[in-house]
Amino acid sequence: MTTIHIAASREYDVVIEPGLLTRLGTMAAELGLGRRAAVISDDAVFALYGAAAEKALTDAGFQVDHFLFPHGEQQKTLSTYGQVLNFLCGRRFTRSDFLVALGGGVVGDLAGFAAATVLRGVDFVQIPTTLLAQVDSSVGGKTGLDLPEGKNLIGCFYQPSLVLADTDCLETLPRRQLSSGMAEVIKCGVIGDEEILRHLEAAAEPELPWLVERCCRYKAAVVARDERDGGDRRLLNFGHTFGHAYEAAGGYDSYTHGEAVAAGMMQMLRWQVSHGLGGQELLDRLTPLLERWELPVRLPWDGAADYLARDKKRAGDQVTIAVAQRAGAGRLMAVPLASLLEAE
Ligand code: GLY
Repeated sequence: MTTIHIAASREYDVVIEPGLLTRLGTMAAELGLGRRAAVISDDAVFALYGAAAEKALTDAGFQVDHFLFPHGEQQKTLSTYGQVLNFLCGRRFTRSDFLVALGGGVVGDLAGFAAATVLRGVDFVQIPTTLLAQVDSSVGGKTGLDLPEGKNLIGCFYQPSLVLADTDCLETLPRRQLSSGMAEVIKCGVIGDEEILRHLEAAAEPELPWLVERCCRYKAAVVARDERDGGDRRLLNFGHTFGHAYEAAGGYDSYTHGEAVAAGMMQMLRWQVSHGLGGQELLDRLTPLLERWELPVRLPWDGAADYLARDKKRAGDQVTIAVAQRAGAGRLMAVPLASLLEAE
């Protein structure tokens, strides 16, 4: 069992191990969480893991309820969020009860935002079931919702009490979802940990638990330095400035998050090269890696510029971007928004 401590405003552990779901109840009890839990999940994930999660909780003496919504990024809306709150308040949920976010990034972000806001905040446990959620979104306390105007435009920082990454869950992940998470893994290699890229380049079958651990260790260090995204944490945004714009322009159902990030990383590297900031070596290195995971190296720019102009990291005419000249050496720089909008 690997345990990574997150030193944020609320301290907690990320535990990584195959088969961990069965220990959800005992671990929640050890933390002294309240006696009533609401599992928030989507239909697809709950069909696979809902019964095991609920059994683990009831076996440990918890009273359990669940709220499910249809899977997909298009559900990360104010409307679904409202339904979760109506459910919790309708069931007379109290401040000593807790939520369990069982699913990928959409479930984690939405359930986390519900936990942060219902009754002015209740505890929650993240059970990330996708590679993307295990290596990135479940760690560090970002919660949020999309608006028609853009991705993650509503949200807050709210740390969970515990993150349980059961790597067995990755076995049922469709290839496209695994690839989506792999884009975030590759991003981690580009900005902070070149060993990740070396492993992916050398291994016929990558060691998923090792990759989850490596990415979480890197992210734990970043979050400890900058929990609220005012500095170093923005490095994790590498590829996301363009990526979020592609996702929004595609209506959130044309590309997975990872596909948009993959193309966004490549676009950022092309932008760097064209502005004399280096990155050609990384472009050459990432191309075969992304192609191996069926991730796009370029996406249509149509409509994306409008969304890019609404980037959360924008301050006036400037936007702070993450760039990388060589692997493991990401850095931040503020550039005029207009220079990014010229992207083809
Ligand atoms: N997913 C980027 C972050 O957590 O800051």
